[in-house]
Amino acid sequence: MSKLTTKPTASHAKVAKAAPPKETEAIAPLPVAENWRGHLRVGSIITETPGVKTFRLVPSSSDRLLPFTFVPGQFLNVAFWIGGARMNRSYSISSSPTQREYIDLTVRREPRGAVSRHIVDLLKVGDQIEAAGPVGKFTFDGTEADSIVLIAAGVGITPMMSVTRYLTERSWAGEIFLIFTFRKPADFIFANEITAIQRVNPKLHVAVTVTRAEGTDWKGSRGRITKELLTQTVPDLASRRVHVCGPQSMMEATKAMLTELGVAPDQLKTEAFGATKPAPAAAGTALKPTAEATGPLVTFSTNNKSVKIHVDQTVLELSEELSIGIENSCRVGTCGLCKVKMTSGEVEMAVEDSLTPDDKANGIILACQAKPKSDIVVEA
Ligand SMILES: Cc1cc2nc3c(=O)[nH]c(=O)nc-3n(C[C@H](O)[C@H](O)[C@H](O)COP(=O)(O)OP(=O)(O)OC[C@H]3O[C@@H](n4cnc5c(N)ncnc54)[C@H](O)[C@@H]3O)c2cc1C
Ligand code: FES
Repeated sequence: MSKLTTKPTASHAKVAKAAPPKETEAIAPLPVAENWRGHLRVGSIITETPGVKTFRLVPSSSDRLLPFTFVPGQFLNVAFWIGGARMNRSYSISSSPTQREYIDLTVRREPRGAVSRHIVDLLKVGDQIEAAGPVGKFTFDGTEADSIVLIAAGVGITPMMSVTRYLTERSWAGEIFLIFTFRKPADFIFANEITAIQRVNPKLHVAVTVTRAEGTDWKGSRGRITKELLTQTVPDLASRRVHVCGPQSMMEATKAMLTELGVAPDQLKTEAFGATKPAPAAAGTALKPTAEATGPLVTFSTNNKSVKIHVDQTVLELSEELSIGIENSCRVGTCGLCKVKMTSGEVEMAVEDSLTPDDKANGIILACQAKPKSDIVVEA
């Protein structure tokens, strides 16, 4: 069952319409903005900071233009075969959608990460990557508000960079406030480019704070993002649209501060880059049950297996115990890879970001979020 899907959004149309095609684009086939799935080729690799590289991906065929369009802030799902197991992960597009010939994925090498180490250590120019998308609702193309505050920690800067590049290239009239935090000054991804953008975009305001500046000549702010840093950097913060991306703990702390500072919930958008616990090696990896299950009965109809679920366990976790291969990546309800059809029963889902109205109408659930409220049957 194909789960690497995305629906076109109004914004897709806006981007395609707003960026006038170059002369040669007029004769190129129309880009696919829905359900794209295929291969991209690594065109070049840029080392950004220690452990972080940007992979510039180009069409795998002889086509000059990418086979899809995207909105700043969206991401791609990519898949690799590593050690005989298929592994899916999501990576935000850090380039601007005005670039129709390539996309950039900027990846941080996690010291014990299965896929990020494979990407950063082993990928080389010319390699083909299996990808699908674009996906995601953590987007901003300038039509949603007349100013934007982008707050990120570490590699969470990637979707913010796409937005910043895009708005600057479009000469967007609004104020852009970037507030970033990194561990060390050397970890400041895109530092030189942001300085260069500031020179051409007087509406770009940047504040960076580092948490481990000892022994460096860092002259900027030190420590975590605080309410003071937020209010000093952004006048009238409460009246603005704010996007936050980073580790779960940083996002929770920042959301709490922003709420205290009066930012309305509907003006606050967040994106988590993944679950706090490491994902199992691959879809189908068996996990050992730890206690007797007392929850509702879950039937995986394709595999003809019915078992009771543990209290607070998700359908995805149960499927992993049973070695039922439900694809997954983010495990936080964002990427949509774990969509399965539920033919009976009821579940609750804390996050449903990647479900479309059509999905909901057709009984599609996110296995990584779904906790059964009654006995259920899913097609897996
Ligand atoms: C929407 C979205 C967008 C994203 N965009 C980006 C992006 O632009 N750039 C980017 O770099 N990442 C991004 N991510 C994160 C990315 O998808 C991966 O989660 C990340 O690269 C880690 O994958 P991995 O396979 O290397 O780590 P995994 O193997 O999945 O491990 C996850 C974490 O657990 C740690 N870990 C693994 N094994 C152990 C162990 N035995 N003990 C202790 N700790 C362990 C790893 O160090 C890692 O931090 C995004 C995620 C989402 C959901
Ligand atoms: S694994 Fe990403 S939405 Fe479930």
